[in-house]
Amino acid sequence: STSRFQICCIGAGYVGGPTMAIIAKKCPTIDVTVVDISQRRIDAWNSEADLPIYEPGLKEAVMNTRGKNLFFSTDIDGAIEKAHMIFVAVNTPTKKDGLGAGRAADLTYWELAARRIAKVAKSPKIIVEKSTVPIKTAEAILTVLNASGKTRFQVLSNPEFLAEGTAVRDLESPDRILIGGNLKDEDGTAAVEKLVDIYSHWVPRERIITTNVWSSELSKLVANFFLAQRVSSINAVSALCESSGADVDEVSTAVGLDSRIGSKFLKASVGFGGSCFQKDILNLVYLSESMGLKDIAEYFHWVVKMNDLQKERFVSRIIHGLFNTVTGKRIAILGFAFKKDTGDTRESAAISVCQRLVDERAHLDIYDPKVEESQIWQDISTASKMDRLELEKLIHISSSPYGAAQGSHALVVCTEWDEFQDLDFEKILSIMEKPAFIFDGRNILNHEYLRKLGFVVYAIGKPLDPRLNVV
Ligand code: NAD
Ligand code: UDX
Repeated sequence: STSRFQICCIGAGYVGGPTMAIIAKKCPTIDVTVVDISQRRIDAWNSEADLPIYEPGLKEAVMNTRGKNLFFSTDIDGAIEKAHMIFVAVNTPTKKDGLGAGRAADLTYWELAARRIAKVAKSPKIIVEKSTVPIKTAEAILTVLNASGKTRFQVLSNPEFLAEGTAVRDLESPDRILIGGNLKDEDGTAAVEKLVDIYSHWVPRERIITTNVWSSELSKLVANFFLAQRVSSINAVSALCESSGADVDEVSTAVGLDSRIGSKFLKASVGFGGSCFQKDILNLVYLSESMGLKDIAEYFHWVVKMNDLQKERFVSRIIHGLFNTVTGKRIAILGFAFKKDTGDTRESAAISVCQRLVDERAHLDIYDPKVEESQIWQDISTASKMDRLELEKLIHISSSPYGAAQGSHALVVCTEWDEFQDLDFEKILSIMEKPAFIFDGRNILNHEYLRKLGFVVYAIGKPLDPRLNVV
């Protein structure tokens, strides 16, 4: 019924879908409608089979609320019209062309959504900026909204901190909820309170913090910078470890036990991926530059540059390890997602690794438990200079890790899927070319055991295997 509080969310992606499913679950008296321009995505959210994204616990949350107080629809105008509060969770990728290309956030989708709201809305609405955006976006959006003059709007910033693979857990017990609004103004404060009310259904009040809009927008970018910085820092240390005989996992344990440093996000890897880190840091770089802060921009930028170096360092270990050539050799790629427990491949380190190895004319056999085959083709085609026909001669996608390993010279672990730890490595050794190599880009395997079996093993930031060719 229309007397119930109505939420609309524009954008049914990785953020919009799970966030709204949890709001619907925790607030049975509120109706939540998630809309998208993509009919395919909405159909998938409404299907009985697989949802458009994989997240542990998500299907249950959606099934328990869908059709009761959670709805997925392409009727964007209808949902805007009846909503009291509108979340905007559209994508804000890095700009590909034009001013700020390669760095600035592309706000086209955001502005289109705002213009749609301005066009359709007849009653006052609270707009909640859920997408990650550059600082001052809320202000610009408010200008667009108010230009119609038909009704009043409040714009809040409410960045999302969920990580993929743990989205449901992160949404159900967040470290904090951050709400930015115009607290100097009565209507602004009331809007903030309304959003605080919603989260208070399940988040302890002391974990909900309110700030001015700009602090909130900036905090999201800064949080991702700090997280990514830790990964790049430990990855820089991993190079030092390999040259010195230290063990990066021992170093990060020792360092992380300092309570001022903390143990999380100190896992050395082939490189961070995901749709957020690189994009948000480049955004921070661009913002700093546009404010004339060149050195500050450079400092931020190194976190991304270090990540690129780490991916390249890993690839060169593979090439040198395999006697300085991989041309025509078969290499099994284990894992293509940017981290475990997700089917998402955006900015996955695996894409760069595969693209580089294909450049060297290696034959790849790729296995990932969750990533769709078509996604792998699309990602490598986009990254590579080669056309699809050429790529098809070099790449095969397997439905099992053993299929991928069959006849290969090397196994390359790109994603830390748990199941890789339980593989039958005796069997794998028996079906591989000899000497059989393993390049563990995630340090998840039991390297001592593998060496005893007869593998030559390279692991990130670990003392180098004497049998590995290094340059
Ligand atoms: P996504 O690409 O998965 O989803 C965005 C959706 O918005 C798409 O389905 C797209 O069709 C839809 N859309 C675009 N323009 C639209 C319009 N005008 N009207 C209706 N629908 C429209 O993106 P995502 O990963 O959910 O990210 C959304 C935002 O949240 C980004 O700003 C991102 O930086 C931020 N964020 C993402 C994560 C994450 O883990 N993915 C975490 C925190 C914040
Ligand atoms: C990140 C932020 O964590 C989240 O708060 C924000 O809302 C969105 O961006 P996400 O990209 O989903 O989340 O995953 P995250 O767990 O942060 O991992 C990012 C990348 O860093 C992954 O490729 C992961 O494998 C890598 N990583 C992470 C490491 O290599 N080492 C680590 O110690 C931690």
